[in-house]
Parts: sequence; structure tokens; C-alpha cells
Amino acid sequence: MSSKKTKLELTWIGKEHRPRLEPRILLEEPDKSHHAKFRVKEWPQENAKNAKGSDSLRSSVANEDRAKVKDLPQEIAENSKNSDSLRSLRSFAANEVGDIFDNMLIRGDNLLGLKALEQEFAGKVKCVFIDPPYNTGSAFEHYDDGVEHSIWLSLMRDRLELIKKLLTDDGSLWITIDDNEAHYLKVLCDEVFGRKNFVANIVWQKRYAPDVRIAISDAHENLFCYAAATSAFSKVANLIPLAEAQTKQFKNPDNDLRGPWKASDFTAAGFRPNQMYDITLPSGRIVTPPAGRCWRVTEEGFRKFTAEDRMYYGPKGDGVPALKRFLSEMKGMTPWTWWPHTEVGHSQEAKSESQALFERDSAFATPKPERLIERVIHIATNPGDLVLDSFLGSGTTAAVAHKMGRRWIGIELGEHCETHCLPRLKKVVDGEDPGGITQAVGWKGGGGFRYYRLAPSLLEKDKWDNWVVSKEYNAAMLAEAVCKLEGFSYEPSDSLYWQHGHSTERDFIYTTTANLSHDQLQELSDEVGPERSLLVVCSAFRGRKEGYPNLTVKKIPNAVLTRCEWGKDDYSLKVENLPKAPPAPGQQELF
Ligand SMILES: C[S@@+](CC[C@H](N)C(=O)[O-])C[C@H]1O[C@@H](n2cnc3c(N)ncnc32)[C@H](O)[C@@H]1O
Repeated sequence: MSSKKTKLELTWIGKEHRPRLEPRILLEEPDKSHHAKFRVKEWPQENAKNAKGSDSLRSSVANEDRAKVKDLPQEIAENSKNSDSLRSLRSFAANEVGDIFDNMLIRGDNLLGLKALEQEFAGKVKCVFIDPPYNTGSAFEHYDDGVEHSIWLSLMRDRLELIKKLLTDDGSLWITIDDNEAHYLKVLCDEVFGRKNFVANIVWQKRYAPDVRIAISDAHENLFCYAAATSAFSKVANLIPLAEAQTKQFKNPDNDLRGPWKASDFTAAGFRPNQMYDITLPSGRIVTPPAGRCWRVTEEGFRKFTAEDRMYYGPKGDGVPALKRFLSEMKGMTPWTWWPHTEVGHSQEAKSESQALFERDSAFATPKPERLIERVIHIATNPGDLVLDSFLGSGTTAAVAHKMGRRWIGIELGEHCETHCLPRLKKVVDGEDPGGITQAVGWKGGGGFRYYRLAPSLLEKDKWDNWVVSKEYNAAMLAEAVCKLEGFSYEPSDSLYWQHGHSTERDFIYTTTANLSHDQLQELSDEVGPERSLLVVCSAFRGRKEGYPNLTVKKIPNAVLTRCEWGKDDYSLKVENLPKAPPAPGQQELF
């Protein structure tokens, strides 16, 4: 018999096709960023000092340094306004300040957006919540929702793989989905995250009355929870507060000074000899554990509870022994997989929240209730942790995370990033959103966020159909983009014009649109010296490629042409963006 293990796998047409994503840089649009007057925590002096080279980011690709190499064309690097935003992005990714000031609202396709975040945020996101289009075939006012099933799976798989890379070791992903794709998505998630990292399929009661127009009305949506690693997640997952119905079960019939309490079972299943003693009730009756059970603790433990006045025998002192559990000592309860609308809201509640935020006619079509997201964020994170939603919709996750003191990143492709997310989040920062969970968490305003867009593709076609560096890139953007592409950390030096970034302490990168001569390369090589190495990315060079032991010289764009798909801006869930089916074997010769 073959020892080869078979693997259960969902396959579909085009599964093997994987986009080769361009790692874009993010550009802040400062006029859309919004901050309260003061940080939630002020930037500490020490951090400011420690933020190495912070002032030099982007700006130090400076003209005067460049001029140190004779005859270099004077490509003027814009002393970019983005230096501040990149510094803040780094500090935000490292959680140096631990406040909610530099959260990120990103407009663009989330596949490119997630890829853009990968370098700085891999392993840093504690909780991802997504509410993707459910592929129901409906066209909502703000976005379309319906592509061929296998394509939907491909598009989701590509995003899930990137999301997994962003999660912390104890992080978790939460996805809402209805029954159209839920079961396929479950198998897909098992494949990406590993079946052992499936935590739960929570059933959220989205409706409280059936839809009478159809044969069987759906009452729920699924909320999948996957952990980066189940064991790590279960150590950090928070209990949830007791619901009102549960707290009502705590009473105080004997006026115990410790407050309301609930009688809990004092027996346990099984037979353990040291838990099988007699108990004499206040009435004088002697009782033993019922058949098949023992007492919950040893006799010594029982005596301790008695001394603490925690044993209860009914109003007449003749009932089965019970243990008093005080409400004040309850840390919360383990969440379970049934989330009724009474606890976390329903779709109509979400609609009302959206209508209160926007004009009735412009309310978002498919928002989630703030209470639902609050519970997810409560279980999965603590204040200061980073929450990501890459299908941000009307901004609910960002708004809730902000009110709960979590840092957040939201990505939204649609126009409503500006018409809904932006004004909603401004209101949250300004303390002018009284709806949703505001009262419950006591949110008064503060913090802020920066608005980013994805940079255009680094390469574009010229009029002769050749790939060239996009005209929209200035020198600083080019240096940063090439760093990202080559896996270097962009950190231009104040003093050395050729140090735009580093991969190790001794390995640097220098990007220029210049045509470098042999003399210039030799001068660079001498300056770099034998202890360091430098990757030089330039438009052209006239020296000997192998002639400089400490330099690797590459031409842009030629050296990067095959690296990724250039000029592709939209990988969204729309039919026109679908990967083309590869020609059948043998067909190639026909073209
Ligand atoms: C169901 S809505 C999310 C609603 C959100 N939970 C809320 O409470 O408002 C799904 C969102 O995903 C967005 N979306 C779809 N494809 C996207 C993509 N490729 N990149 C970014 N956003 C995308 C849609 O524009 C839509 O706003």
C-alpha cells in the first residue's frame, strides 16, 4: 500500500494562476488626513531622539549631496512632504508611541494595498476583520457583488495569503460570509491557514423576523475565526462581559456583603476517592455525592469554602450543597458560537447607524453593526493593538477600533472611501459621532489618521510601447520604490548621498536615473570601501559591470521588468479584472 498521504483540497479553474504583485509605495494626501489637536499620548522626547535618521527620510536624496559625484545630472529630489508621513508610518508599524494618532486609511485595491503593507507590517497585525462582497450576484449601490465562483475563490485566496503574513503569531482573522460561498471559503481558509488553526464558525443572528417573500428565510451570517496559531491565540483571547440575562441570574437572598451571587453545582463527574466524603447540612442531614459523581473539591477544599462562607444549602439549610459564585469576581464568560442580535446588533441596527451618520439616501447599503465589530475586537485585541480591515466599506471597523483605543488600518477601493469612511472617521476623531458604541465605551474624541493612496505603478509604457519609469515618480519616490522592490529598508542617509536604504548594516542601495560613467562608478566603489557593499540601480552605465568588487550594478527598468505585473491598478472583484484563462496546451503555436 502506498504510504503517500492524500490531501483534501478544493480545486478550481485558474487556481494555479497567481498575480505577481508590484509592491507599491504609499503616498499620503495630507489634506485628507485628520488629527485631533493633541495626541492621545504625546510623542515622548526619547522616541523623537531615537527615531534614527527620521528627519532624513525621503528628503535626503538631496541635490547638494548628489553633486558630490562630478558630472552627475542634477536630478532634484523633492524634499518631500512625505518624509513626515513615512516616519510616522514606521513609528506606527513599530508601535513606538502606542497611541491612535497615525492610523491609516488607504484608498485603493486591497490586494495591492496588502502587498504595500507587507514590508513594514508583516507579523504586526493582531486582528484582521473582513466583510468581503459575498458573491451573491447583487449590484449594491456602492459596489458590485458577483463573479464566477472559482474566480471569487482565487481573488479571496490571494488576499488571505497576504493577510496571513501580516498577522502576529497570536493574531486572528475574522470573516463574515453568508451561505452562498461559506462552505467553499471554509475549505479555502483551511488550506491557507491550516485546518488546525480554524477556531470557530460563529453564527451571527442578523435578522429578528423572517423574510416572508422566500421559502426559507435566512436568519444568520457566518463569522469565521482563524488563528495564525490556535495555541497562541487561545492564550490571549479575552473573555466577554456577561450579558444582562446572565447578570440577572446573580441574586443576593442572604444579603451577603460581597454582593449578588449565583449558586453553582458543587459536584463533578466521575469517581475520585478523595472527593467522596460526607457533608453534614445545617439541617443535620448527611449527604454524599449523587451516583456517578464526586464533590467538586477535596475535603480540605470544602473546609476552606466553608470558612469563607461560600457554601450554600438552600433557604432552609437542607438543600444539595452548592458553591456561591459572586458577580464581582466574574472576569467574564467564554464567548460561544451563537451571537444573538440582542447582544451584537442586527443588519437593521447597522443600517440605522449608517443613516444617522450620513443622509438617509446616502446610507451605506451593507454595513455591519458597531456592536458586532466591538465584540470581535474585544476578544481578539487589547488597547494599542493593531486592527486591519481591507474591505472597509463605510469604515465601521476603523470607527469601532478607534473608539476602543486600538490602532487601525483600513483599505477601501470605492469612491465611498472618501464619501463615507473619511467623514465618518473625522467625526469619530472630533468626538462628533454619538452613535454605535460611543456611549458604551465612553468615547469622547481624540487621535487621528492619515489618508494614503497607492502610488501609481513604477513603470509605464512610452509611446513606442517600451516600459519606462513613470513620469509621476520624483527621485525620492523612485528611491523608495526601488528599495521596496529590492527588499531594502528605505532610510536615506543625511551624510552619504549613495545610501538610500539598507538590507543589513553593511549592505546599501543607491538608485539614480543617471547614466553612470566608469569614473563615477569607480568613485562610488572607492567611497563604499571594502567593508561595505552597494547595489547601484541606475538608468544606464558605461563602466564594466563586474569591475567593482563591492558594487552590484543594475539597470532600471530592464533589471526589474519580469519581477511583477506593471501598470495593473485594479485586482478587484470585478469580472473585467479576472485573470485570463491560459491557452490550452498546444494552442500556443496557433498565435
Ligand atoms: C460588504 S462591504 C463592507 C462593509 C463594512 N463592513 C461596513 O460595515 O461598512 C465590502 C466592501 O469591500 C469593498 N471592496 C471590494 N473589493 C475590493 C478591493 N479589491 N479592494 C478594496 N476594497 C474592496 C467594496 O467596495 C465594499 O465597500
